[in-house]
Amino acid sequence: MESGRPAAKGAAAKRPAVKTIVIDCDPGIDDALALALAHGSPGLEIAGVTTVSGNVSLARTTANALALREYLGFPEVPVVPGSARPLLRPPINAAGVHGDHGLGGVRLPEPALPPAPGHAVDFLIDTLASRPGEVTLVAIGPLTNVALAVRKEPRITEWARELVILGGSYTRGNVTPAAEFNMAADPEAAAVVFGAGWTVTMIGLDVSRSALATGPVLDRMRALGRLGTELLAPCAEFYGMVTATEGPAIHDTCAVAYLVDPSLIEVQPAVVEVETAGRLTSGMTVVDFELAGRAPNALVGTSLDVARFWDLTLSAYARVRPTARSLSG
Ligand code: BDR
Ligand code: CA
Repeated sequence: MESGRPAAKGAAAKRPAVKTIVIDCDPGIDDALALALAHGSPGLEIAGVTTVSGNVSLARTTANALALREYLGFPEVPVVPGSARPLLRPPINAAGVHGDHGLGGVRLPEPALPPAPGHAVDFLIDTLASRPGEVTLVAIGPLTNVALAVRKEPRITEWARELVILGGSYTRGNVTPAAEFNMAADPEAAAVVFGAGWTVTMIGLDVSRSALATGPVLDRMRALGRLGTELLAPCAEFYGMVTATEGPAIHDTCAVAYLVDPSLIEVQPAVVEVETAGRLTSGMTVVDFELAGRAPNALVGTSLDVARFWDLTLSAYARVRPTARSLSG
């Protein structure tokens, strides 16, 4: 045990109204839209952004996080690079849906500021240790950084106010019939995180598949001005075909929206285990709502209030003032 670490007990009683969050991410189109939502939400304070290999390489997710930080207007927030590959497996990516750069066809201005020194795993540990019971961790990429942090310092499970992830599914996957991308990319890490003794709030595809950026939603994005026309709408359009009633699911925003207003998403206690051995089912989240005497290790999202979700998300986007430097096209 390291000395000088605080105890978590009693800290919850003094929680401030504004939620302090660290976002572990792999931008990524929906990660970008989730970062914009977090920044535009007065109820959230972003204490740091950590990056992980996922949708695209670590170099690209970090470059995108740095560019988004400056474009969206939170240059004071540290961006800390993390794991370049999953715990055991070769990396997979989702460049097919996010584009080779990770933000579809959008090219943000080159960031002027560098990443923070150090590694995401240490940043996560130090940030959670510095304010026990106060900092919420929201993980919207593969769980490699979070798993390494929990292995290096198991007490983060006590120090985190809450862990909310975007990932998993109890119905069907999107990378395979069984597995959602963030789980499939690093199943061993996901298994470590779900088995660590804290309660994981799992916002999975069962919920996020209904967060569709339909034509009317895109119209509302464009009506916001530059943020909508330069970033939000082009990203969403790249992400999938848009009609009046269908469109791409903007998955990662759901996890951040839940932090702003938990009443948007119904959650139910469950035991969640992650399949790591299956030839066809690797990365599957096996969700048991029945419990049968077992203690739950997760709160699993089961439904989303779609209309209120978009109202909240678009109101937050309306508060974001992108920097004036023009995009390179
Ligand atoms: C998740 O996979 C990634 O491609 C997205 O960014 C999101 O985190 C959805 O399955
Ligand atoms: Ca993501």
